[in-house]
Amino acid sequence: MKRFSITVAGGGSTFTPGIIMMLLDHQEEFPIRKLCLYDNDPERQEIIAKACGILLKERAPEIEYRYTTDPQNAFTDVDFVMAHIRVGKYAMREKDEKIPMKYGVVGQETCGPGGIAYGMRSIGGILEILDYMEKYSPDAWMLNYSNPAAIVAEATRKLRPDSRIINICDMPLGIMVRMAKILGISEKDLDIRYFGLNHFGWWTQIKDKEGNDLMPTLKEYVKENGYDINIEEDQHADQSWHETFKKVRDVYAVDPDTLPNTYLKYYLCPDYVVKHTDPNYTRANQVMDGREKEVFSAAREIIERGTAENCRFMKDDHASYIVDLARALAFNTKEKMLLIVPNEGAVENFDPEAMVEIPCIVGKDGYEKIAQGRIPQFQKGLMEQQVSVEKLVVEAWIEGSYQKLWQALTLSKTVPSASVAKQILDDLIEANKGYWPELK
Ligand code: NAD
Ligand code: G6P
Ligand code: MN
Repeated sequence: MKRFSITVAGGGSTFTPGIIMMLLDHQEEFPIRKLCLYDNDPERQEIIAKACGILLKERAPEIEYRYTTDPQNAFTDVDFVMAHIRVGKYAMREKDEKIPMKYGVVGQETCGPGGIAYGMRSIGGILEILDYMEKYSPDAWMLNYSNPAAIVAEATRKLRPDSRIINICDMPLGIMVRMAKILGISEKDLDIRYFGLNHFGWWTQIKDKEGNDLMPTLKEYVKENGYDINIEEDQHADQSWHETFKKVRDVYAVDPDTLPNTYLKYYLCPDYVVKHTDPNYTRANQVMDGREKEVFSAAREIIERGTAENCRFMKDDHASYIVDLARALAFNTKEKMLLIVPNEGAVENFDPEAMVEIPCIVGKDGYEKIAQGRIPQFQKGLMEQQVSVEKLVVEAWIEGSYQKLWQALTLSKTVPSASVAKQILDDLIEANKGYWPELK
């Protein structure tokens, strides 16, 4: 069987060990010949990279492993780039979340002003990696799950329309794993229809492989509990995620014809979200004190002990969709997957030039979209507003336009007025010096 060369961009990410453990677990279906970690922060990456090196030497010595901050080294002879960078790291995530909260506005990593600020930082970082990949390995695929995926995807649609980049998100799949557990079946047996933008979508159909409608059973559950269930799952297991899954109950109530993505709570229940957020201790603080500490101390422990035996790195099972996607491209499996792709009519009554999240069939030549038909007025209205925010951010980044970024913030459903938008924007500009293009 063919073996593949993979570069993980954002090698110092808290998700890198979990992804590597997961890749090791799938060596039979997706064998690796080379693995490289790439980051632009050598100190941060080195801790993760050294620990992963010990792990790989013990568990898969046949894989040629290296880590680097040199683009040529990182992107030469690569089949897949798996990208999860965070431009500005957690220090900037914390600002993205806290600045809007000062004005009583949702402070979130990917939604509202925080997501806009993060988008303005991410676009340049992602384009840089994409350009390195095309220069050194023009036939490679970039599987990007760096956030905010909606804005990054729109930027690549506009600025690199012919690139081999596929933008993806784990949230719908994470929810589908829960749906499957609620129904007592495997998520691979769910036959779905879904439409939306990234972190902004809805299921319109959930059937089993025999074509039986599973929506009524699921709705009964969601009406009471949202997607909250008791499972031992790594990434979405802490208290704040429990609350998010529970809150789906109220988001669902607004449109009981569909089942919503968890992220819609930031747009439909912003008052609730603000009321339940500590402005001095946001999600960034929780993650820094939780996942980041945990992963880095596990890595340090491996390095000190010189072995990864009984290590605390945890396999990121839910990230196996990345392997599914890489396998589909490599082996033409024609698997149906949710991707963030140019609409071009797939959602009939929606902007053809928008990046939408919809099911696609993935094979050797990329993806084919599955048309989702016409969407209801409620979702269409919300999506038109949100996609305009995302497009204005990308235009603001390209043109260096203060005006357009102010419009983007003003248009966000999370922001109450143009004047609040302006105050938040001015604070964000100050905080993002050196990360954003200069705005005029
Ligand atoms: P992290 O800060 O732990 O890791 C990000 C790494 O990227 C850091 O080591 C940083 O130094 C590096 N980096 C930053 N800018 C870079 C650049 N220009 N070039 C190379 N490396 C760069 O963050 P994390 O919490 O592990 O998350 C990583 C990313 O994955 C984030 O964007 C997060 O939002 C995203 N994510 C997405 C999904 C999804 O569903 N799409 C799921 C989980 C995480
Ligand atoms: C989900 C989303 C990701 C996001 C992550 C944040 O998985 O799909 O896009 O990055 O949650 O989780 P965190 O635990 O960092 O708040
Ligand atoms: Mn996501």
